Amino acid sequence: MESNSLNLGIQLAPRHPEGLMLDNPVMTASGTFGYGIEYSELIDIQKLGAIICKGTTLMPRKGNPQPRLVETVGGLLNSVGLENIGVDAVIRDKAPIWANWRVPVIVNIAGETIDEYVSIAAKLEDTPGVSGIELNISCPNISAGGIEFGVTPRLAAEVTSAVKAVTSFPLIVKLSPNVTDIKEIALAVERAGADAISLINTVKGMVIDISKGESRLESITGGLSGPAIKPVALYLVYEVAKVIHIPVIGCGGICCAADALGFIMAGASAVQVGTANLTNPHAALDVLEGIKYFMRDRGIQKLTDLISVAQA
Ligand SMILES: Cc1cc2nc3c(=O)[nH]c(=O)nc-3n(C[C@H](O)[C@H](O)[C@H](O)COP(=O)(O)O)c2cc1C
Repeated sequence: MESNSLNLGIQLAPRHPEGLMLDNPVMTASGTFGYGIEYSELIDIQKLGAIICKGTTLMPRKGNPQPRLVETVGGLLNSVGLENIGVDAVIRDKAPIWANWRVPVIVNIAGETIDEYVSIAAKLEDTPGVSGIELNISCPNISAGGIEFGVTPRLAAEVTSAVKAVTSFPLIVKLSPNVTDIKEIALAVERAGADAISLINTVKGMVIDISKGESRLESITGGLSGPAIKPVALYLVYEVAKVIHIPVIGCGGICCAADALGFIMAGASAVQVGTANLTNPHAALDVLEGIKYFMRDRGIQKLTDLISVAQA
């Protein structure tokens, strides 16, 4: 509760026995805020609602070859390919630092098989400093011939229930926008035991260098993020929030408080700031301050009063 009587608190995991209570709805998105530690020297990270760490895999990964970042109009195309230090190093080197923080840290995990997801979640179990798991299901499932977990309701549900069975942490499942009907996938994931759903991950895209007649990314295609994807993300949040009964976390192109408030009015209980962190380390805190300003200006005391007001 804010001292000046604004209540920005939000329960992100109402179905979970312990819940996941955030002081405010502004989180940082996976892959754009490192482990939080890098940013702790630049901003007061303790003021954030939560931090989602870099995508974490079972073994360390070098990621994809360069070039793997291209700027586009209003956006960023990346093919970083989940470069990370691996779950053991996260538990050994990062979690003990997080354990001294007030701000909750949620570990984003990624795997190429269900067993990999399960092993990462099992390793994280009971780790002090970890407050939740976010499942990145935009990863190719090797056992299913490279099809992404997030693109069919069945695979999305399988990986969700398998992880749910081995973790006592609140479980957020992060959806891919690169699907035909995101509502079906959200419903499947909700039924499989997700405590909350975040959306969206990046939108598939590519950029051609016409002087060379080839893609500007070494891995040919990448994931688009930033303001260019905001209307897509907003629409998908709106659609998903209509049909599910667990909290939705909106993400995609959020740069300022007005963006975040749009997501909240469309049905999001919380938001994640991603690409904006790369150009403005203060972006997430600016979003938070702007939300407070808006609420005070309008005489709105509880953040929850704003959720879904734009739902038809
Ligand atoms: C450089 C970069 C790395 C990312 N890495 C991850 C990741 O490891 N796991 C994940 O779930 N999402 C990852 N994302 C996706 C973001 O968390 C977010 O869903 C997406 O960028 C849309 O939000 P934005 O437009 O605010 O950036 C990454 C995005 C970028 C730009």
